[in-house]
Amino acid sequence: MVVAYLSQTNPDIEWDWNAINTSDIHFPSSFAWGTATAAHQVEGNNTNNNWHVWERSVDDKGISRIHENDTSGIAADHWNRYPEDISLMTELGVNHYRFSIEWSRIEPQKGYYDLIALSHYRKICEALIAAGITPVATLHHFTHPIWFEEMGAFEKDENIEHFVRFSELVFKELMDIVPIWCTFNEPSVFVAQGYFNGIFPPGKKDPVLAGTVLENMLNAHVNTYRKLKSIPGSEENQIGLVKNIFQFDPHRRWHLLDWAFSKILNDVYTNAPLKFLKTGNSSFYMPGMVDNEMSNSEAPGTLDFIGLNYYSRMHVKGRVNPAEPFVFDTREQDIMTDMGYPLYAEGFYRALKTISELEVPIYVTENGLADDTDNIRPLFIERYLYAMNQALKERIDIRGYFYWSLMDNFEWAEGYSMKFGLYEVDPETQDRNLREGSQPFIDMVNKRGADERGYLVNVGEMAPDFTMEYTSGKKLKLSELRGQVVVLQFTASWCSVCRKEMPHLEKDVWQAFKDKGVVIIGVDRDEPLETVLKFQKEIGTTYPLALDPDANIFGLFADKKAGVTRNVVIDQDGKIVFLTRLFEEKEYQEMLEKIKSLL
Ligand code: BGC
Repeated sequence: MVVAYLSQTNPDIEWDWNAINTSDIHFPSSFAWGTATAAHQVEGNNTNNNWHVWERSVDDKGISRIHENDTSGIAADHWNRYPEDISLMTELGVNHYRFSIEWSRIEPQKGYYDLIALSHYRKICEALIAAGITPVATLHHFTHPIWFEEMGAFEKDENIEHFVRFSELVFKELMDIVPIWCTFNEPSVFVAQGYFNGIFPPGKKDPVLAGTVLENMLNAHVNTYRKLKSIPGSEENQIGLVKNIFQFDPHRRWHLLDWAFSKILNDVYTNAPLKFLKTGNSSFYMPGMVDNEMSNSEAPGTLDFIGLNYYSRMHVKGRVNPAEPFVFDTREQDIMTDMGYPLYAEGFYRALKTISELEVPIYVTENGLADDTDNIRPLFIERYLYAMNQALKERIDIRGYFYWSLMDNFEWAEGYSMKFGLYEVDPETQDRNLREGSQPFIDMVNKRGADERGYLVNVGEMAPDFTMEYTSGKKLKLSELRGQVVVLQFTASWCSVCRKEMPHLEKDVWQAFKDKGVVIIGVDRDEPLETVLKFQKEIGTTYPLALDPDANIFGLFADKKAGVTRNVVIDQDGKIVFLTRLFEEKEYQEMLEKIKSLL
């Protein structure tokens, strides 16, 4: 009974990808497109942080913590090669770049600041801006100075002030050129890997401490946000936090234990931090392991935006074994990335919905995959971008998307084995080469975006050409109408605003100007001939109507998912001169004036 109820109230969302055309999407023209990296993963020579120590330590069996004994070393040498890397971004066509600032470079010893290192980041930001790319800075991306780690890092709440002070220094130096700031990258990952699974530093497996560290990091976010926002002139800067979401779904949808552990994991990993940020109260609770009440009345209102990092989901199998109460399993039907994550774009859509409950703008601060063969990268990109577009269509306030990652880099415990880059990096020569599989990302970034009214075209451009079929059966190319003023009126029989506007168009455009070189054509969105003929009869208009199967003509002018009731006025040379949306009196009159002025 319980399982049946759970199964019904939490349907497993999986789309029929064979029936979906993933290229049939547009993003708003204001949408931010970027790539993301993190200091320790790309810069090289970060020898003064917690990861440097970790990369040189061994576990109790004497085995290196990092896959194949890798160390981050010179990484992608981004510290020196950033000008070249900015050119790579320009080649992609992106207009934003998310990177992190390495605390251990700025404050190598407690209270001692390296202003030369700080000015290096300023140089990077200036170079980005000169290339038309907006810098987005993260203040903590898994790494911090050794001295901070030795003090107990975020295990102790009295250490929070050190992070706030570092953040304040950096912010004051760069706030005039960095408009978007992330305090922490993925506190839940930092805590899960460093204090639960023990595969990131400090390598502990202590659920109680995990709860404390999460609470301290969230409080550190709150204090940092409040501090930075108290600096005069910071009103315009957007400050937020980056949350990773992995859904924990039951491996066996008929098994109560799988449901139970999925719920516990979703609660500690995602629901608890989100609830804390929204209300200031929540609890980090795992039965029999940890029950940490978190409360901070200052927390609500500390997000100008939320960053979402999304990769995939986990399938949870509960067990009757106190030593290992759950495990993660895989399903045969899933397409897997090299990280062992299933391709699950539907989960991206779900995560966007979940995070939208915070009711603040969303940036997708990371999304991507490890795929050494480059075989599934295109499919991944197409599906995940489609999923994000679906969320956007449901009016979820997504402002931008950052692909992880610009180039191959040091993938933490996995070392250099995981190839996340749009660009492949040769570790010997440091040469960067664009992967073929990155093309769908480039195509989408460079695709014309829809404006806030859903238009893909602008006034002043040549109208795209197409052939249409009138209800009379006559076929005509738009370009054959050169020499006349053409009004394309996008309409449909079910559209009440269109019905209201059409009699006016009949009188004010067709009857008034049909003998003076003006043609108006109603282009009916994806309806059969009989419906269109009946529609015309009901309205009583006499200007020609044309059919538009699959809204393909509409789709040349506006995002297919946007509404009808729009007029496109095209002058005698084929240039678009006026665009209307809905039937607004003022705009309608302006359109009539425009038409008159052309005659
Ligand atoms: C992290 C990145 C990491 C990526 C891929 C994210 O959780 O923020 O640093 O490289 O996942 O695993």
